[in-house]
Amino acid sequence: MLLKLVLWFLLVCEFALAVSERCHPEDKKVLLQFKKELKNPYFLASWNPNFDCCTWYCVYCDKTKGNRITQLFLRNSVPDTNLSGPIPPSVGDLPFLEQLTLHKFPKLIGPIQPSIAKLTNLTHLEITYTNISGALPDFLAQLKNLNLIKLSFNNLSGPIPASLSQLPNLASLQLDRNKLTGPIPASFGSFKKPGPDLILSHNHLSGPIPASLGNLDPQRIDFSRNKLQGHASMLFASNKRTQTVDLSRNKLSFDMSHLMFPKKSLIWLDLNHNNIYGNIPVSLTEVESLQHFNVSYNNRLNGEIPQGGRLQEFDIYSYFHTKLCGSPLPPCKK
Ligand SMILES: *[C@@H]1O[C@H](CO)[C@@H](O)[C@H](O)[C@H]1NC(C)=O
Ligand SMILES: *[C@@H]1O[C@H](CO)[C@@H](O)[C@H](O)[C@H]1NC(C)=O
Ligand SMILES: *[C@@H]1O[C@H](CO)[C@@H](O)[C@H](O)[C@H]1NC(C)=O
Ligand SMILES: *[C@@H]1O[C@H](CO)[C@@H](O)[C@H](O)[C@H]1NC(C)=O
Ligand SMILES: *[C@@H]1O[C@H](CO)[C@@H](O)[C@H](O)[C@H]1NC(C)=O
Repeated sequence: MLLKLVLWFLLVCEFALAVSERCHPEDKKVLLQFKKELKNPYFLASWNPNFDCCTWYCVYCDKTKGNRITQLFLRNSVPDTNLSGPIPPSVGDLPFLEQLTLHKFPKLIGPIQPSIAKLTNLTHLEITYTNISGALPDFLAQLKNLNLIKLSFNNLSGPIPASLSQLPNLASLQLDRNKLTGPIPASFGSFKKPGPDLILSHNHLSGPIPASLGNLDPQRIDFSRNKLQGHASMLFASNKRTQTVDLSRNKLSFDMSHLMFPKKSLIWLDLNHNNIYGNIPVSLTEVESLQHFNVSYNNRLNGEIPQGGRLQEFDIYSYFHTKLCGSPLPPCKK
């Protein structure tokens, strides 16, 4: 009798689960395929077909969209080498996906999966600390809803596609710490204003910074540790709202004497290890909230450090290996 009752109870439970399952059957099928393509990694152990996929680890279903899967968020805090191989092609079969994150999987390899081209609802593409390689695909420019492209700390190579400037909603482009080569595309000047944050540091980018970037007014620019040459003056103007500019460790060579800076917004300016010359402009003393400033290792920078503003609050290491003089460096020889 008791046994019968238990059996009956189990049956009811299973039935209740079946009717209460929110997960869309198509999405569930795709996720199980995704897991299989990754060879059932330990990380996805909770993806059990007997349970509602809306309750699985790293998966988010959107109630307002008929519980379709809108976010896939595979993110580990320590490098997880259990998960290996290419990005599963099945990821392209989650048509409602808006956010895709893959973080800290050093054995994730291969190209940016071509089937991602089908995910036209994608707003966030974040693949970081993996070993995906190859070129940045042109199809990214077709994913018109993209707001964030973050592909930092991978093994990507080749040029930055000029077509990315066609993305009307891009707020942040983070391609730092890869092996990208070639120039910063001149087309980037035609990003819809104010233009996305441009984080392109630790690559092998070369050539001049395009003059067209003067049209933009991004909050953050980080081009450090590349091989960029020539001017950077187009990035600065007193009415811009840019907050941080890091151009350190490039081959930039221009006269700094007459630059004007975003007075109200600039908080971080790093120009160390370049070939910048002339004087430090007095206009820098008017930058109200400058918190970090570094012009060290620009051997041709000379003259007196303007006195005032925040410029004396930085230590000598912000100014060493130059021909500058005056506080905080020793006084100029008269
Ligand atoms: C890798 O898998 C093993 C079990 O196979 C597990 O104990 C370990 O925690 C996993 N590593 C990570 C980083 O998840
Ligand atoms: C994108 O979202 C809309 C509505 O939210 C949906 O109709 C469409 O099928 C989704 N997927 C693609 C690939 O367009
Ligand atoms: C890529 O693989 C190499 C060699 O296995 C490893 O040393 C490196 O840490 C990996 N990169 C990332 C970002 O995990
Ligand atoms: C990184 O990419 C290069 C080609 O650019 C390739 O030869 C190398 O094997 C890749 N490294 C890893 C760990 O996948
Ligand atoms: C400025 O950059 C140089 C070179 O990288 C570094 O040694 C120094 O510590 C930096 N100074 C500050 C204040 O960050």
